[in-house]
Amino acid sequence: STEKYKEPFRPQFHFSPEKKWMNDPNGMVYYKGIYHLFYQYYPDDIVWGPMHWGHATSTDLIHWTHKKIALFPDKLGMIFSGSAVVDIDNTSGLGTKENPPMIAVFTYHDMAGEKGGRTDYQTQGLSYSLDEGETWLKYEKNPIVKNSGVKDFRDPKVFWNNETKLWNMVLVAGDHAQFYTSENLINWKFESQFGENIGAHGGVWECPDIFKLKVANSNEEKWVLLISINPGAPNGGSGTQYFIGDFDGKSFKTTQKDIKWIDNGADNYAGVTYNNTPDNKRIFIGWMSNWSYARDTPTKNWRSAMTLPRELSLEKINNNYVLKNSPVEPFKKQLVSEFSKDILPIKPNQKVTFTYENFNQSEVKFKASSKNLKLVFSNEVNDSLVLNYDAVQKNFSIDRRHSGIVNFEKSFGEKIHNTKIPNITTETIDYQIVIDWSSIEIFLNGGVYSFTEQIFPSKPYTKLSIQSDEKLEIKNVTIHRIKGIW
Ligand code: FRU
Repeated sequence: STEKYKEPFRPQFHFSPEKKWMNDPNGMVYYKGIYHLFYQYYPDDIVWGPMHWGHATSTDLIHWTHKKIALFPDKLGMIFSGSAVVDIDNTSGLGTKENPPMIAVFTYHDMAGEKGGRTDYQTQGLSYSLDEGETWLKYEKNPIVKNSGVKDFRDPKVFWNNETKLWNMVLVAGDHAQFYTSENLINWKFESQFGENIGAHGGVWECPDIFKLKVANSNEEKWVLLISINPGAPNGGSGTQYFIGDFDGKSFKTTQKDIKWIDNGADNYAGVTYNNTPDNKRIFIGWMSNWSYARDTPTKNWRSAMTLPRELSLEKINNNYVLKNSPVEPFKKQLVSEFSKDILPIKPNQKVTFTYENFNQSEVKFKASSKNLKLVFSNEVNDSLVLNYDAVQKNFSIDRRHSGIVNFEKSFGEKIHNTKIPNITTETIDYQIVIDWSSIEIFLNGGVYSFTEQIFPSKPYTKLSIQSDEKLEIKNVTIHRIKGIW
C-alpha cells in the first residue's frame, strides 16, 4: 500500500483519506487506548457530495489505520458533522454497563427538504456502536433534535459535563450557538443561546466546541468556545474563532471584546477537540483546507488532509487570554536529526543559505532575537515561499503567491497573508516550522500564534535562506527529517 501514498503532494505525516473527498474531522473520541477519528467523507468523487462519516484509528495520534465507512446517508438525509462519546454508564440504554455504547451525534441534512424550499432540513441524529466503533446502528427514533425552522442548524458537539453530571450539547443555529442538556443523550433540553451580537459574523457559524482549560501559572480555569465561520476569516474564506469565558452547564458568558482566531493561516478549518483524552489533555485537529478553493486543489486521487493533532493550552499574555496550540508530544518521535547549530550570527543584509534534499518533509526550528527576519524556502524551478517577520509593525506574513502551483483558483495565490502578532512579547522568538508535501505549519513561541497553509510546490524545496536588515543572533538551529507514517 505504500505506493499508493506516493502521489504528487500526498502528505507523508498528516492524516489524509486513502482516496476521494474529505472535509471536517468528526466524532473525535478516545476509548480503550484508541483515538478514533471520523471525518466528512464522499466516497464517490474528489469533490464534496452526499456526506458519510469516514473512520480511522490511531494509538498515538500520528500513525493512522483506515477503517471502513462508519455512517452512510439514509432516508433522513446525508450525515453532516458531529461528535462522539462513550456512554460509560449506559444512560441511553442502547448498550449495557458491561458493554457501554459508543454514541455519535451528527447532523442530518435532508436534500429534498432544502430543494423544496423548507428551512427545517437540518436535524440532529444519533447512531451507536456496540463494538467499540467498528460497526454502527442508527437510532430508530431519529431525529433526536428536531428543527423549528432554522436554516443552518448543525454540527452538535456532545460531551459529559462532570460538574453538572449531565450531558451537554452545543450546536450552531445560523448566527449563534445553542446549548442543551440531557440525562440520556436522547432527550435534549434547550438551555440558552450565545453569540448573535458578538464575534466575527462574516459567514454562518459552524462546528462549535466548548471545553475548560487551566490558565498557565495560575489557579484560574476558563471555558473556551470554538466557532468556525465561512467566509469571514482574516485571510479570506474559512477560519476558526474562539471566545474565552465561563460556562455553568447551561449558558456561556464572556467579557471578551476582541475577535480571536485559533490559527492565522488560510487552511485550518472546522477544527474541534477529542472527548475523553488521557491526562486531561485537550487535543485539537482541524481540516487543512478552505472552502474558497477546497474543491480545486491540484491533487488527483484524494482531496485534503488534517492538521497535525495539536495540544491546546491557555495563557495570559498582555493581560489577555490566549489559546495556544502546538503539535502533540508523539510527533517528536517522527523527527530524525539532520543538522544542528548552536549559534548562527547574521550580519545586516547577509543571506545565510541552507541546502537540504527535501524541506517538504522537515521541521526547522530556532530561536531568534525579536528583529526583522525573512525566510525563503525555494527549489530549482524558482518556486519560493516567503515568511517575513516585521518587528516594528509586529506583523508576520506568509507569501505563497509564487510557492508553486497556485493558479487552480483565483484567491489561493492572490495576496500576501498578514497577521498582527502583539502577543509576541519576548525578546527572543521560538520558531517551529513543519512542512509536508502540500502544507506548512508555523508555530511562534510554542503556538501563541500558529499559521497553517496549503502549498503545492512543483518540486520539493531544497533551499532555505535566512536574512535580516539588522544584526541578529539565531540560536539552537535544527533541521529534522520527518519520518513518513504510511
Ligand atoms: C463545515 C461544514 C459543516 C457541515 C459540513 C458538511 O465545513 O460546512 O458545517 O456539517 O461541513 O460537510
